[in-house]
Amino acid sequence: GTSGGDGADGGDGGDELITVGFAQTGSESGWRSANTESMKTAFSEENGFKLTFNAADNDPAAQIAAVRDFINQGVDAIVIAPIVEDGWDDVLQEAKDADIPVVLEDRTVTAPDDLYASWVGLDFRQEGVMAGEWAAENFGSEATNMVVLEGTTGSAPANERAEGFDEAVEGTSIEKIDSQTGDFTRDGGKTVMEGFLQKYGVDGIDLVYAHNDDMALGAIEAIEAAGATPGEDIKIISIDAVKDGMLALIDNKINFIVECNPLLGELAAGIVKDVLAGDTVEKTYFVTDESFTPEQAAEVIDSRLY
Ligand code: AHR
Repeated sequence: GTSGGDGADGGDGGDELITVGFAQTGSESGWRSANTESMKTAFSEENGFKLTFNAADNDPAAQIAAVRDFINQGVDAIVIAPIVEDGWDDVLQEAKDADIPVVLEDRTVTAPDDLYASWVGLDFRQEGVMAGEWAAENFGSEATNMVVLEGTTGSAPANERAEGFDEAVEGTSIEKIDSQTGDFTRDGGKTVMEGFLQKYGVDGIDLVYAHNDDMALGAIEAIEAAGATPGEDIKIISIDAVKDGMLALIDNKINFIVECNPLLGELAAGIVKDVLAGDTVEKTYFVTDESFTPEQAAEVIDSRLY
């Protein structure tokens, strides 16, 4: 059996079930829906878990409060997809003091790594590098005005996707003329893109780098409303490779997508079980990402799981 929580806090959920509190970011994107589903499936009663799910609507303070509730409930383990990187030291220390292991999934934190057991997710910096390398190869030798739709300010993917991309296009003729957060949402991407189009005009923007597909999809709406053709008049690169993004890519409205795999549930659940069993786990588990041109997207679309 497991070491944590059999008995005293077993509640009515069946005596062997592992109680887990999962603090999700919110429901900002198609990626997030797929990730939530993957987590709920993996942390099901069939698999030996009793899951308490919290989605914090992208409010960092609310997410920390949810984690504190899980500590007070005395769950066996806590899983967090941290909205932002900073601000975790205190509550992670509280979990540690309460002997409740924490496993991070998806996003990372800046807190010392002895405050959590393990992390599983994607290499956001590498995603940025892959997007930037493709941009450099395709647009890096002609004057290219680029605008950036950033993810949630302070989040690991927004920070690292920006860094990786910037590094890859350094020394090319791609110029970042503006960069603003669209909060990883479709509405956010649309609103920010509308502002960019007003400020620079359709002719003043050659390339959009969107930190996720949803913001790219919002930008497509804004570009079309401005009477231009997305993917042609204004090129678009994004990250995630969720279904709607891949369909827009196949439609040539997006030009290139770097994947970010949301199916982390099974891995996270395995790590939680190992940690509670006292088995040694790695501090970080990286899942690898692919990338897609429209042609490549058309080949794989039928076999995509999200
Ligand atoms: O942390 C992963 C990012 O969060 C995804 O790329 C984005 O779509 C989501 O909201």
